[in-house]
Amino acid sequence: MQIPISEIENQKKIMRTIREEFSQKIMDAAQSAKPLGYVDTYGCQQNESDSEKIRGMLIEMGCVITHDEYVADIIVINTCAIRENAENRVFGNVGDLVHTKKAKPNQLIAVCGCMAAISENVERIRNKYKHVDMVFSPADLWRFPELVYQVLSEKYPTKEDKEQSAKTRERSKKSKTLHTLPSSEYPQARIAEGLPNHRDMKIKAWLPIMHGCNNFCAYCIVPYVRGREVSREPSAILAEAKEIIDAGYKDITLLGQNVNSYNPVPSGKVCEVSEVSDFPKLIREMSKLDGEFLIRFMTSHPKDAGEELFRAMAESEKVARHIHLPFQAGNDRILKLMNRGYTSAEYLDKLAFARELMPDIVITSDVIVGYPGETDEEFEDTLRLVEKAQFDAMFTFIYSRRPHTAAAKLSDTTTREEKQIRFDKLLELQNAISAPNISISLLLRGSLCRILS
Ligand code: 5AD
Ligand code: SF4
Repeated sequence: MQIPISEIENQKKIMRTIREEFSQKIMDAAQSAKPLGYVDTYGCQQNESDSEKIRGMLIEMGCVITHDEYVADIIVINTCAIRENAENRVFGNVGDLVHTKKAKPNQLIAVCGCMAAISENVERIRNKYKHVDMVFSPADLWRFPELVYQVLSEKYPTKEDKEQSAKTRERSKKSKTLHTLPSSEYPQARIAEGLPNHRDMKIKAWLPIMHGCNNFCAYCIVPYVRGREVSREPSAILAEAKEIIDAGYKDITLLGQNVNSYNPVPSGKVCEVSEVSDFPKLIREMSKLDGEFLIRFMTSHPKDAGEELFRAMAESEKVARHIHLPFQAGNDRILKLMNRGYTSAEYLDKLAFARELMPDIVITSDVIVGYPGETDEEFEDTLRLVEKAQFDAMFTFIYSRRPHTAAAKLSDTTTREEKQIRFDKLLELQNAISAPNISISLLLRGSLCRILS
């Protein structure tokens, strides 16, 4: 679902109002001529990209970005819910902000991101983290200015506001409560074009092409916190890519939970051959843009990474020869339980096809150990797959039970120690595989390489 442009314009108006009416009030005049905004990001690249938009909005509200939470007038914590230990770390750090707020009682604190889309977390923040002023989910990111305005107008009421709240005592009681935006229980991902964006890096730029996820892998919380998949219009993506290239960025990463299911064409519509109607066509089109740059993308789901994707990669000079293709498990029963939609043999066939077309392709992957019910023998299949796949790098995770997911209902009898042993075995195997490739400069000796300048 695309947010109407009039709604975005309204948020822009609110940002201007905050800049003109409130920024003097919220800033600590001793520290700077403008209020200081601080954004802390946990989790994936999508969150990094969302944080750049939050920074852009803070700047529009009159803030200067700081990297020191102790001096900040507005703090935003952009959270990750993918594993329980990520959540615990966030709760610990949000708890510590009670000290920064004691030192600066006018400080505003917001918690957003995937954790903020889970009602249990919102309740926990409401009850136990009273120094937090506002919470909003990824689907509501575009309404951040509206939320800041709500908090500020309650903190610094006008004369009329005061008269109004004197009439309704309820309202003044409410000023102690946490500010939230009404979202549906399972949020719908939204496309909000035209929000300000403050890119953090000089060479590397994030470019989201879609939001949300439809895959419902049994262990994964993402569809429940980021909602169903929606794709941006190709024209909007290509226009943003041009802006990024013109601004001098050299390395553009297209972002989506599963970029291979990129689909901007409404269902039932017959599309023209020339239309950018899927991901391989999008990267082919983007490669035609003028300039010296490299296109990357993540993440790819193996069930949707077809031959045409690898052909488009091989034939597009500006696409990096790297694919991150999480396999998650090497045993077919576990893959089925995980609802992944491929077998280990099909996965390996895809790698073979990619390497045949691009012998120099770099392949990285994710794997989960200790999925509920995974036996030692089934884990051995994961070791065998890693041995055969010869990944350039692999990210290993111990299964973490997530609320709402299908896997959360399965009984899990493997002990933490057994899972740790499997984790260590995988790490040892992958380290042995990666080691010979580490000295990339030695591998490249004598070859001619393209330099992006
Ligand atoms: N437990 C452990 N790892 C998980 N991942 C996703 N959900 C879970 C979970 N519940 C891993 C997957 C994914 C990566 C981003 O995080 O390997 O590819
Ligand atoms: Fe974390 Fe996944 Fe949300 Fe990214 S999308 S922030 S990895 S839960």
